[in-house]
Amino acid sequence: PQSFSTTLVILGATGDLTQRLLMPALYRLHARGHLEGVFLQGYAVEDWEREKFLAHLEQALRRFVPEFDPAVWGGLQERIAYRAGDLSSGRLAALRDDLAANVLFYLALPPDLFGVAAEGLGRAKLQDDTQGFRRLIVEKPFGYDLASAEALRQQMHRFWREDQIFRIDHFLGKETTQNLLVFRFANRFLEPIWNTQHIAQVQITYAETLGLEGRWRYYDQAGALRDMLQNHLMQLFTLTALEPPSVWDAEVLREHKVEVLRSVRPIPAEQVEDFAVRGQYTAGSLEGQELPGYRQEAHIPPTSTTETFAALKLYVDNWRWRGVPFYLRSGKRLCADYAEVAVQFHEVPAQFFGPKAPGSNWLILRMQPRESLELQAWAKRPGLALEARPVTLEAPYEQPGDAPYSAYEQLLLDALHGDQAHFLRFDEVEWAWRILEPVQAAWKSGQPEPYPAGSEGPLGMARLMSDGHAWRPLG
Ligand code: BG6
Repeated sequence: PQSFSTTLVILGATGDLTQRLLMPALYRLHARGHLEGVFLQGYAVEDWEREKFLAHLEQALRRFVPEFDPAVWGGLQERIAYRAGDLSSGRLAALRDDLAANVLFYLALPPDLFGVAAEGLGRAKLQDDTQGFRRLIVEKPFGYDLASAEALRQQMHRFWREDQIFRIDHFLGKETTQNLLVFRFANRFLEPIWNTQHIAQVQITYAETLGLEGRWRYYDQAGALRDMLQNHLMQLFTLTALEPPSVWDAEVLREHKVEVLRSVRPIPAEQVEDFAVRGQYTAGSLEGQELPGYRQEAHIPPTSTTETFAALKLYVDNWRWRGVPFYLRSGKRLCADYAEVAVQFHEVPAQFFGPKAPGSNWLILRMQPRESLELQAWAKRPGLALEARPVTLEAPYEQPGDAPYSAYEQLLLDALHGDQAHFLRFDEVEWAWRILEPVQAAWKSGQPEPYPAGSEGPLGMARLMSDGHAWRPLG
């Protein structure tokens, strides 16, 4: 470690997250020359030798990194070590001999171990940053409701300061998410119309064809509201709605995000049905393939009421947004991988052009099936009549020569550099849970609405729509 300035310690280094997401990201960062001075220390309960750990990682990289190159891996291996141990402070203390001056701990662990790990590290004095930085990256979910999130915060803050804690939401590392900030605040033409006077509605969709992917243990406890809406979609929502920051600064940015969440009109406990819809997929088919229903999936109890689809309607009661509905939805086993932030403008006040009266404009920041920017507008149909027809101005997001980074690459680098702008401050998590509290309470009883696998979701989602709005089709 002496020749390295920073150690990245992965707790849970033999697990699924490390294999699927962290190691591929670290491999690519190494291949691109970003890991100079960084040593990787794996840590997990498996009583393995270093060789076995490396073989395990190599297997994962060959599977998840299509461009895998043994020569690149050869170089990366030299800076990887492994230590076996549990999360007790006594065992964790052994890590002290492995560490460079600066240390980043990544909790790639099951959520119920986040607090235990943070405390164990603290008791072993591994959070002490007098010689160099000590940071802790925590994965989602941060709690499963408001009370548990607060309990987890207290447990973590026993030894760690807020500025040492990096709560990751990988959507904040996605290009389209970051582009919400750039596109909004680098263009003059948007700001004057980015408000209730000109915007009729916003629809934020993250539809997946994927099912459980072997994650039944986690997913059946979580459900779509906790898995996607509380974190990822809430982030897309706050970035769409926030006020322009006056300076580019992580604290100012996060302050503005919290401001949005605090302005959300509370969902009335007795009216949850008008603001939230949940669904669960039943047997169906997708691209010619027969699929079982959620309750027939391996390991899922046949009586499970976990929602695999969730939709919400939120209002932001501030000067900018009063009266504009924000619709959020996400689900598994839907008919398409389709994701976007879609903003609809009001119709023009007078319409002259044609039998199919021109309506409104949509601005779309598309994430799936590919990233792009689209403006749906109206233009003259060539011919004798002054007739309008819809046209789409589309800019593929990536241009030749671009070298995008994956979300995990971006965020790992940010954490190494100590930039918290794209990590969640506790009050963001807290307010997101607050917004959902009435929904969580209402959903403790009753049943999600069935929808066939491969469909657009439960029919009941139409219930949320106000002012003659309709959900956008998935593709
Ligand atoms: C994860 C959820 O956080 O995000 C998954 O747990 C979901 O259920 C995933 O599939 C979606 O993100 P991405 O980047 O894989 O499309």
